[in-house]
Parts: sequence; C-alpha cells; structure tokens
Amino acid sequence: MDKFLIEGGRPLEGRVTASGAKNAALPAMAASLLTEDLVTLRNVPRVRDISTLRSLLDELGVDSSVTHETHGNRLEIQARKLLNPVAPYELVKQMRASVLVLGPLVARFGHARVSLPGGCAIGARPINLHLKGLEKLGASIKIEHGYIEAQADGLQGAPFRFDTTTVTGTENLLMAATLAAGETVLENAAREPEVEDLADLLQKMGASIEGAGTDTIRIRGVARLHGAEHNIIPDRIEVGTFLVAAAITGGHLILDEVRPDHLTAIIAKLAEAGVRVRVRGPHELEVDGSGSLQAADVTTHEYPGFATDMQAQYMALMTQAGGSAVITETIFENRFLHAFELLSMGADITLDGRRAVVRGKTPLSGAKVQASDLRASASLVLAGLAAEGETLIDRVYHIDRGYERIEENLTKVGAKIRRVSKST
Ligand code: EPU
Repeated sequence: MDKFLIEGGRPLEGRVTASGAKNAALPAMAASLLTEDLVTLRNVPRVRDISTLRSLLDELGVDSSVTHETHGNRLEIQARKLLNPVAPYELVKQMRASVLVLGPLVARFGHARVSLPGGCAIGARPINLHLKGLEKLGASIKIEHGYIEAQADGLQGAPFRFDTTTVTGTENLLMAATLAAGETVLENAAREPEVEDLADLLQKMGASIEGAGTDTIRIRGVARLHGAEHNIIPDRIEVGTFLVAAAITGGHLILDEVRPDHLTAIIAKLAEAGVRVRVRGPHELEVDGSGSLQAADVTTHEYPGFATDMQAQYMALMTQAGGSAVITETIFENRFLHAFELLSMGADITLDGRRAVVRGKTPLSGAKVQASDLRASASLVLAGLAAEGETLIDRVYHIDRGYERIEENLTKVGAKIRRVSKST
C-alpha cells in the first residue's frame, strides 16, 4: 500500500491547472448507458474512481476506450447493447457512486441488479430516496441477497419530492426521467454544479430538461437519446484544496482552468479567515496566503453553501488560525475521522457530535498518520505541508480515488512530497 512522505514547512509558489471534476464525470459516464450511440467525454480526471466505473461498464458489456489528452482524458463510451445488467458487490463496495448506473439501466433496459453498497467511513449513506424515486416512476424494487432488483416495463414520468437533498439521488432520477413517458418534476433537488453539468450532457443527448441548478427540475421524457460530446467541468473541490494548500503554507498560487463561480462559498470563507483570493478572470484564481490567519466558524451545507467535501481541509487550515473555530458538519454524521489524526500532529480539537472546535494556532509536527477517506486524506496532506518535520500518511489509495497526481502537482509548486511504495 502506498504512503506519502511529506517534509513540511515550505510555502507553495506557482501555477496549478485544475482537473475535471470526478463527481461530474461519474454521472456523465453512467448517462452514456441511456443511448446506443457513442458518448465522448473530455477533461475526465485520471483518478481511480473513474477506472472503477469503467470496470463496471465493462462488466455490463459496454465498450469504452480512453485517450490521454493534454488536459485530462478523453473517454469514449458506447452502450450498444447490454450483456449483463448486474453491478456486482465487488465493484460497488469500492465506490458507492456505482449506484448511478441503476437509474439509466432501468430506464433503458427495464431491468437492473445493483449491489447495495454497504458501510461507509463518513456516515450511513442510505440510498432509500434513489429507490423511492424510481418506484414513483413505476419501477418495481426488491432487495434480495444484498442486491437491488429493479424492474420496469417502461417508466412513467411523475412528480417526486426528495425528503433530503441528495446529489447522486437527484442524478439517478434525472437520468431515469429522461426516458420516462411524460413529465417528471423533481422537487428539493440538489443544486450542485455537477447536477447541472449532467443535465447539460443529457440535453446534448436530446433530453428535455428545465431548472437544473435550481431545486426544481422538470424533465419531459423522450423516446430515445442520441450520442454527444461533452467537456467535464473543473473540480471545485480540488481547486478548494489547493487554495487551502497555499493558505496553510503561507504561499502564493495561481489556479487555472477553474470555475470561480462554483467556489463562491469557499472563497468567502477563506476571505473571512484572512486568505486573499482574487478572481483574475473567468477561469483563473490567485491565492495569497502570506497574511495571518484568523479563526472563522463554518457550517457545511448543500450547494451553494460550504461543501462538506471541503470540511476536512478547512479543519486543517483552522489549526493554523488564531482563535477558536467551530466547524459544524450537517451532511454526514461521521465525517470527523481526520480530527484524530490532526490531534496526533499537535492540533487542539474537541469533538462534540456534529461539531468540532479547533483552537489555534498550534504548531503542527510531522507524525505517522492514516487516511480514512478521500477528503480526510487531503486534510492530512495539507497538515503535513504545514508541519515541522516529516509526515508519513498511510492508505493514500483513498486520495488516489479523487485527486489526479496530487503529489506531482504539489511538487511542481515547491512541496516536498513523495510516494513511497511498499517495495521501496
Ligand atoms: N441520503 C439519504 N437517503 C438517500 C440519499 C442520501 O438519507 O437516498 C442522505 C445521506 O445519508 C447524507 C445526505 O443525504 O446524509 C446527502 O448525501 P448525498 O446523497 O447528497 O451524497 P452522495 O450523492 O452519496 C455526493 C458526492 C460526495 C459528497 C456528497 C455531498 C458523488 C459521487 N459523491 O455523494 O462526494 O460528499 O454528494 O455533497 O457525487 C467525495 O467526493 O469525497 C464525496 C464523498
């Protein structure tokens, strides 16, 4: 198992180009199941979750090929027919987002067998609303031997209100509704840019969708969708992570190929904490972390609020800010595992249910720590960059799920970080 060895204490300086968003590329890949034509996706990040979903598409009998381009990968997917409508446990347990194939499979082929994903480090993460929504569209759903068995003889559009806002739940229903007869209205839908990006792709494929990016999405079903080409939006969480990397090391970075309008809440919170972030153009940000940091409370919310996927990184930053910051996590019930690792690096953090109080500024010192999930690993990398001495992060396979070559990008801007493989 690979580890990262980081020697902290160097301000980052230079330019980083954002990758395509993993959480936009995954639903886009699932959407390719809705047509027999070729779907071409560009700016697809080179991360493990994408390979996992590709393996699943392969398992389903779908053709795909990948080409390395200057910026991200080009992925060509063609679901001419289906050999086997089964998403097996072995793949789904590696990545919960595999459940995104459920809606498209039922909508186009009338049948799907998708494993339940099982436990997750950050919370229970049920998928009851995905299932309830598909039932509302006329699918019959049974749970048998750990698998969701979904069957439909043509889906029917219907109104559906999500009890809780869910990103992949909205995406699953949005995809299914494109091929359902008549109109579907999704209420309390997720407004994340990744949902909007999926709707953009579906519209290029011939779907009729209004309101993506708002909490009410109207979909008028069509008989068939066709092929399309689509550029995946930049990864706002990767960019947010690099903004924090500059801030925590007192560095200065330019980030390009970004969408500043997707980062409003993050930029505002960093400004409150004393980090200067300047929008240099429609696709460029500049961050100057030379000022002193002060504590600023934060509460995670659905988009356009402060993303739960930035909470762990922000906690690392708050260890270096003067004063006490209260961090409240409202989306997932167990997303503070990184706090225990930060404690062993010298942080002063108290946990109380969904609230963490971080008292700063405490010097961090390098230690052996362990990543528990994707964003927790990012927070440990950030803490390692700020710490005095060497930090060894175990289980970096978590970070490889969602950050493209993070150690290379960090090295280019002056960090001392290297991957240590088991054999070395
Ligand atoms: N929920 C339910 N029932 C459902 C679905 C969700 O109760 O049927 C609850 C969840 O338990 C959670 C809340 O609703 O408390 C929100 O979960 P959501 O369904 O929105 O999460 P998700 O769709 O599984 C996506 C991202 C996550 C990100 C969350 C929240 C993808 C592939 N994953 O997950 O990304 O944290 O939205 O923004 O888009 C990551 O990239 O590290 C990551 C975990």
